[in-house]
Amino acid sequence: MKGVILAGGLGTRLHPLTKITNKHLLPIYDRPMIYYPIEAMVNAGITDIMIVTGGRKSGDFLSLLGNGKDFGLKHLNYTYQEGEGGIAEALGLAEHWAAGSPVCVILGDNIIEWNIKAAVADFRAQQKGAKIILKEVHDPERFGVATVREGKVAKIVEKPKQPESNYAVIGIYLYDGRVWDIIKTLKPSDRGELEITDVNNWYIQDGTMSYEVLNGWWTDAGTFKSLHSAASLVAQGGANKLG
Ligand code: DAU
Repeated sequence: MKGVILAGGLGTRLHPLTKITNKHLLPIYDRPMIYYPIEAMVNAGITDIMIVTGGRKSGDFLSLLGNGKDFGLKHLNYTYQEGEGGIAEALGLAEHWAAGSPVCVILGDNIIEWNIKAAVADFRAQQKGAKIILKEVHDPERFGVATVREGKVAKIVEKPKQPESNYAVIGIYLYDGRVWDIIKTLKPSDRGELEITDVNNWYIQDGTMSYEVLNGWWTDAGTFKSLHSAASLVAQGGANKLG
């Protein structure tokens, strides 16, 4: 399985911190933000990885990460997203490299306490469709929110004003090789982006979406509050723990 880490976008919610650098190069306690999704991928046994960069200072990813030696990797692949056309657009930029192949996608600002080894193994066994990972949160309106009925995800709504549940869809997604064609059918949302939630709802309609609930903490780091709490969580006990 291939792995794609999305580190494009302009990080405008973190201005002025991101005025001269890419959000994913900012520190989270003792490491740059981009280290965490790479570790999560490698811990799950995925070593064929592409990083989608964007915005300013994208060349700094190469200086920082090189071929991924710090993570035990032999090689890393890179591509560049112009502008901020959405998470699904950024993923689509990996098609030339991953076409037809299943893929694990991690958003570059998502950090987890434990690992996704079991979810990836379950998805390999599932063979067809997609898998998402949910986490109960107190502020679901900030995220994609899943409605679960009779053990299945019935729908996902992106940043609902009145969420139907507390289950946020975290930024780790597993897709079969159809995802590349699904992305091509998407239309921009009201905020002008190709939404990953539309990809997920496609698989729900197809009846091939599975889910699991994450153990341990999860956070994004795209706002001042979450950037701060991500650093505290890592400082308190570390992230990407094995076991
Ligand atoms: O963190 C999980 C949430 O991430 C999900 O619950 C939502 O369903 C999903 O839409 C997303 O929401 P955000 O609005 O918080 O995503 P954000 O725009 O902050 O982008 C998250 C990461 O995705 C960012 O760190 C880099 C990557 N990205 C994003 C955009 C918009 C790109 O690579 N390119 C892009 O154009």
